[in-house]
This record gives sequence, C-alpha cells and structure tokens, in this order.
Amino acid sequence: MKNIQTTSLRVANNQLLILDQQALPQQQNWLNAQSTEQLVDHILQLRVRGAPLIGLSASLLLALQAEQGMPLAQLGASMQALSASRPTAVNLMNNLARMHQAMQQTDFVSAMSIQALRLIDEDKQLCEGIAQAGLARVTPNSRLLTHCNTGGLATAGVGTALGVIRRAHEAGLIKQVWVDETRPLLQGGRLTAWELGELTIPYQLICDSMAASLMAKGEVDAVWVGADRIAANGDVANKIGTYSLAVLAKFHGIPFYVAAPSTTHDPACPNGDAIVIEQRADQEVTGVTGSFGAVQWAPIDAKVYNPAFDVTPASLISGWVLDTGVVTPAQVAAGFFQPSK
Ligand code: MRU
Repeated sequence: MKNIQTTSLRVANNQLLILDQQALPQQQNWLNAQSTEQLVDHILQLRVRGAPLIGLSASLLLALQAEQGMPLAQLGASMQALSASRPTAVNLMNNLARMHQAMQQTDFVSAMSIQALRLIDEDKQLCEGIAQAGLARVTPNSRLLTHCNTGGLATAGVGTALGVIRRAHEAGLIKQVWVDETRPLLQGGRLTAWELGELTIPYQLICDSMAASLMAKGEVDAVWVGADRIAANGDVANKIGTYSLAVLAKFHGIPFYVAAPSTTHDPACPNGDAIVIEQRADQEVTGVTGSFGAVQWAPIDAKVYNPAFDVTPASLISGWVLDTGVVTPAQVAAGFFQPSK
C-alpha cells in the first residue's frame, strides 16, 4: 500500500502506525498497530479514538493484513474482533461493511486496499463538506464552546465540529473557543487544547462544570459538538457531557450544533434509546492515568457509573451540520433522518 500520513494515522513501509492519543500532548509517540490484537487494544485504551478514526484505522489494518497474505477466514475473524471493539459509533461498522464488500471480490487484496484508501480520501472530503456547510452558521466575533475532540486527531481531515471552527477561524470569524476539558478522559483538555494551540486558534480551557456560569454571563455564542451516531428521529449519541451542554444551551437560548459526516446517520436506529452506550472502567472515574502514570483519588472501593457517551434528544439540537448541508429541526420533524421507504 502507498504511504499515508494524517494527523494521527500513518502507513509507512506497509505498516500501520497510530499517534498515541493517551500520551498527547506531553509526548508524541507513534505506536505500531500491526496485529488485530494490537489495534483492538489501542482502540479499547483510546490511543486511537474518535468515531471516524476508529473506522479508518480498522479498515487500513484489514487491507494491510490482506496484502500480507492473511487468509480470508482469518480476515473475517479480524474484522469481527475490530467491529466489537467500540459499540456506540456507527462509523466503525459502516467502514467495516465497506471492507466486507471488498473482501467478496475475486481480487480481494487489491479491492480492500483500494477501499481503505478511498475511505481515507472520502473522510477528508466529508470533513471539508461539513466545514463549508457549518461556516454559514458561525457569526462574526464568535465565542464557541466545544466538547471532547473532533479535530484532525479524530478524523483523516480537518475534523467535524473542530473542522468548522478551524475554517471559521481562517475566515476571521472566531473570537475564541471555550474548551470543555471533557471528564473523565480529558479529550478536550489534552487533545482539543493541543490542536487549537497548534492551529493558533485562541482558546480557554474550562472544567465541564463551568459551562453553565459562562452561558449565564453571555460569554458563549454557540455550542459545537460531534456525533457518534445519529438516529432516525434525529437523536444524537456523543461523548458523555454533550447532553448536559444541550440542556444548558436550550435554557440560555444558545444555538447547539451537531457536526458530523452524513455517514454517522444510522437509519436503522429508530431513536436514542436504541443506541448501545459503552460502559467503561471504574478507574477512569476514580482517578486519572496518563503519560505521567496513574493517580487514584477516590476510595479504592468506590462504586462507579461510567458511560462513555450520552444521548442528546433531537428537540435540543438547532442544526445537524452534515457534509451535505445543514439539516434543520423542521426537516428532522418532517422525517429527514427516517429510512427511505
Ligand atoms: O471516546 P471518544 O474520544 O472516541 O469519543 C469521541 C467523541 O465522542 C466525538 O465527539 C465523536 O467521536 C466525533 S469525532 C469527529
């Protein structure tokens, strides 16, 4: 396969490498992802994360495994193991379905390679489409609040919500970005803060609990988040804490935008209740782990509730900003996301 370089994925000499998103921003470590077990572990540990990136990394690994002569039965098992690694985002399953189609071809080795490379190119284009659609919703001198990480680290391109912010900054529309730290795994504090710094976009980091008082003071013009799955009624699963922001935004009369590729829409999922929410380890809440080691602050036997995502009902969303354009609440109420008959 030809060499590939995105912000957080690399194919060099037919080997897949990932930028360790648990070590960022203190360390920039590129790790091997050569076997299914290695990549599944990277995904489970969120060294590879973000809905689009998980799907792209799995597709690239499968294509490389096919090129290295892995037999079809083993490729099928690899695909299954990758598909089970994170349940909430639909992008992984969508990308694997595309790779599965390629696997059915007589010349499956080249078909899988072509498909994986196509998925990377498509993702870049989807990001640009979202950014262009989103620009029209950003007003001059904007102070935007974002949650989790939806940038180049989480995609092959400029990102989704952060891609809109990036292009809006280039258009001179951004006064500053409020970055929610995003407990428990701190994707905002570690990753979004780092990406915005690299892009020289002015930002201030806040604890998640500070958003309400900022909104009350009139310091937030809009909230922009990504999505892991958009259900047929417009409900959206995204990083835990997204729902609280949507409730706060509604209360304060602030627009709340969800930016995602149209491939994040899952017409087979009727509503948010049908979305499987990944539950994660207690240790993510009882302390923190990073390149500095592990720190435990809660009692060792503390009982923990740790869902990785929550569901924001469609009624709280001002616009679904897709690569195909902005979908309005009226369009969603009229059945925009319902499966076509
Ligand atoms: O658990 P993570 O860090 O993979 O969660 C990421 C998010 O929730 C993102 O908002 C979503 O995947 C969209 S990324 C473009």
